[in-house]
Amino acid sequence: MPTRNAFIPFHVPDIGEDEIQAVVETLRSGWLTTGLKSKKFEEEFAAYIGSPHAVALNSGTAALHLALDAVGIKAGDEVLVPTMTFTATAEVVLYLGARPVLVDCEADTLNIDSRGFEKAIGPKTKAVMPVDFAGQPCELGKILEIARDRKLAVIEDAAHALPARHQGKMVGTLSDITCFSFYATKTITTGEGGMATTANPQWADRMRMMSLHGISKDAWKRYTASGSWYYEVEYPGYKYNLTDMAAALGLVQLKRADEFYRARKRIAALYHAGFADVPEIRRPVVRDDVQHAWHLYVVQLELDRLRIGRDEFIEALKKENIGTSVHFIPLHLHPFYRNAFGYKAGDFPNARAAFERIISLPIFPGMTDEQVARVIDAVRAIVIEHRR
Ligand SMILES: Cc1ncc(COP(=O)(O)O)c(C=O)c1O
Repeated sequence: MPTRNAFIPFHVPDIGEDEIQAVVETLRSGWLTTGLKSKKFEEEFAAYIGSPHAVALNSGTAALHLALDAVGIKAGDEVLVPTMTFTATAEVVLYLGARPVLVDCEADTLNIDSRGFEKAIGPKTKAVMPVDFAGQPCELGKILEIARDRKLAVIEDAAHALPARHQGKMVGTLSDITCFSFYATKTITTGEGGMATTANPQWADRMRMMSLHGISKDAWKRYTASGSWYYEVEYPGYKYNLTDMAAALGLVQLKRADEFYRARKRIAALYHAGFADVPEIRRPVVRDDVQHAWHLYVVQLELDRLRIGRDEFIEALKKENIGTSVHFIPLHLHPFYRNAFGYKAGDFPNARAAFERIISLPIFPGMTDEQVARVIDAVRAIVIEHRR
């Protein structure tokens, strides 16, 4: 029996007996690496999203890397990346010898600021990577319009945004290439894994080929009864293919994606109601024309109403046995991006201000109403103890 004060982790993946059975069956099948399960996962993911093509990969980072490669990003190019993201979004630009140029976020949604993005476009800019922060789609209408006008590729980082919609359309069908992550904490998981969706068959083929050493078509067929030993290397590619063990897990998780979404949406609604009368807690702002995937529930502290800062707030929650996280430490505050590109803390005022205020509260499908109530009560009690 869990005690009333048992630890509430920031995230717990929801892995049921069906997932365990699917992985065990794959282990018993004798086929562990990329094969028919990965192919089926691609087909079912493409159908779920409504995208003509889906390429299964071993991480979201791999998807972002291959997407930039597919649209032709090369050394010397510039790619616009929001500073309010995980380092993966920007590091893949560097893999190709290009330069990530950082852009500030909107103060309310923490998504990339479309005005700031337009201003940052220069003669070397070839692509933009909007990140659907916490699971809320960016202003994709405006971003796509500017990108089309300025001939930029749009590689959407939807690591948080399954399932999400922008003006009714599924995320994964809007940008040139959309990249999803199935990392352990994400909205569906394969342990590690990712997927790239696109409507462009050439880009899909290129990503598939580059995910397996740049070897010509359907290399995995070599190992099947219908395959042959012969292959040709067309480009120096990478080793980014998804295993069938992971795909087996993903196939079951994908079937549960809507169930998981409904559970996270319910938790977000409980938090929203629970903090409605707490002016010290700024709740996430959701645009009218989106479906938010609620991968994260990120509150911002109204620091001028409190006598403690964000770090002390997190410590106080920890004392109540509640796990939290911070998404994100903006890239321009990290030593690498500061040192390599000369960014200063004050360069992106919205992201910097948000960073001092943000806390990601626990949100995962298996979270009980009692656990949600405990988090709300703890936040409220800390606010009461420390309000000015
Ligand atoms: C915004 C964002 N982009 C990309 C990634 C990278 O995904 P992966 O861990 O699957 O490589 C993550 C998190 O892991 C993320 O939060």
